[in-house]
Amino acid sequence: MDRLTGKVAIVTGGAQGMGAATAREFVAQGARVVIADVAEADGVALANELGAAASFVRLDVSDESQWQGARDHALEQFDRIDVLVNNAAVSYFVGVEDIEADKVLRVLSINVMGAMLGVKTIAPVMRTQGAGVVINISSLDGLRGVNGMSPYVASKWAVRGLTKAQALELGPVIRVLSIHPGGVNTAMGNPTGASEDEVNLGYTRVPLRRVGRPEEIAKVTAFAASDDASYVTGAEIAVDGGWTAGHYHVGLPGGPEA
Ligand SMILES: NC(=O)c1ccc[n+]([C@@H]2O[C@H](COP(=O)([O-])OP(=O)(O)OC[C@H]3O[C@@H](n4cnc5c(N)ncnc54)[C@H](O)[C@@H]3O)[C@@H](O)[C@H]2O)c1
Repeated sequence: MDRLTGKVAIVTGGAQGMGAATAREFVAQGARVVIADVAEADGVALANELGAAASFVRLDVSDESQWQGARDHALEQFDRIDVLVNNAAVSYFVGVEDIEADKVLRVLSINVMGAMLGVKTIAPVMRTQGAGVVINISSLDGLRGVNGMSPYVASKWAVRGLTKAQALELGPVIRVLSIHPGGVNTAMGNPTGASEDEVNLGYTRVPLRRVGRPEEIAKVTAFAASDDASYVTGAEIAVDGGWTAGHYHVGLPGGPEA
């Protein structure tokens, strides 16, 4: 499939997990990709694996000057920037009464400010070119709440709202949308490295009854980045196995047995 032929994308957090799957999928669909991450060894290894269609740049998304460096790197390597995938994020497991301000600020700086600075730095390039797409990776935790992760939940709701504001301001030149993965089998979604079968035991109340694979999110991101999604902006796309579809009543059709 060559849905992304001729396009150049920056994928933040592209060294591992969903970002790496996105870089691989984009290259498979014809794009050239800048893998932008703080994880240099993994990022360089992936860029080497993908060959001439990929390049690594070190980027801490919370640092504006590093964004300028990533923009310049992309233009030097590939001459243009058509797609920005704001994927980099960190999580923080903590109770609402135990939060530490500096750790909350770190989550917000990376997950929210990172996506803001990315648009600030890259949108002008897209505007000059006359078109572009920004994909902000939020979460199912940007569609509903979850216990033990309030700073992360706040950050992902912020990314969802930010997407609406960016879409309003950057249209009609640039499309902006948010993708909301469910549980995905990456270091973040499966921190203990349990087997997929073991992880799936926690998905008995998810309609598709299993964890997502990074490639399954990447394929939707590639569609959203492509011209096949030319009338999609300001939208939120859940890729969550149905997790946010609703709640099962025990003993009623489709629900667990009483
Ligand atoms: N895994 C899940 O279950 C899940 C579910 C919903 C949403 N998400 C979201 O999907 C995205 C990717 O998650 P993942 O599961 O692949 O996570 P991951 O932890 O496997 O990978 C995150 C990547 O981001 C990079 N990163 C961290 N801080 C950075 C910074 N300051 N600047 C640049 N890069 C940085 C890391 O080095 C890493 O390569 C994130 O936005 C995450 O919130 C994940």
